[in-house]
Amino acid sequence: RLEKIWLGLGLGTLFVFLGVLGVSAFAMGAATPSMHHHTIDPTKVNQTAPFDQPGIKQVADKEYEAVMTAFAFGYAPEKMEVPVGSTVHFTVTSSDVIHGFEIPGTNVNMMIVPGEISQVSHTFTKPGEYLILCNEYCGSAHEMMKTTIIVK
Ligand code: CUA
Repeated sequence: RLEKIWLGLGLGTLFVFLGVLGVSAFAMGAATPSMHHHTIDPTKVNQTAPFDQPGIKQVADKEYEAVMTAFAFGYAPEKMEVPVGSTVHFTVTSSDVIHGFEIPGTNVNMMIVPGEISQVSHTFTKPGEYLILCNEYCGSAHEMMKTTIIVK
């Protein structure tokens, strides 16, 4: 009789233990996305704000924000234009593989990792047509991967 009570108590404890384990695993699982809020699912980049609408917009006097996506083999948006003397804050991610983001003639040079957000700011003090190039080998058309930012 006493054995049955102890057995019941033992089983009860086991179930409580398993229950706690399950709840904590669920809580940890639910907490994971907030721990990685700087990364996005690379396959969902084109549906994830702000990358669902790549483009350049003015945020202050002579200050612009450029949201860009790198992909094999190009960048979105394809063309941008700002007045001379503008500071551009670039926010860039990749929707497939690792790409580069280099603006020759400036110190802008970043690695763009799929799902991670890379940011750099640059003030364009001289007019011209600036190339944005990929300097990380990303496949057959790597050499063709570029976009431009016109400063005038
Ligand atoms: Cu993209 Cu090389």
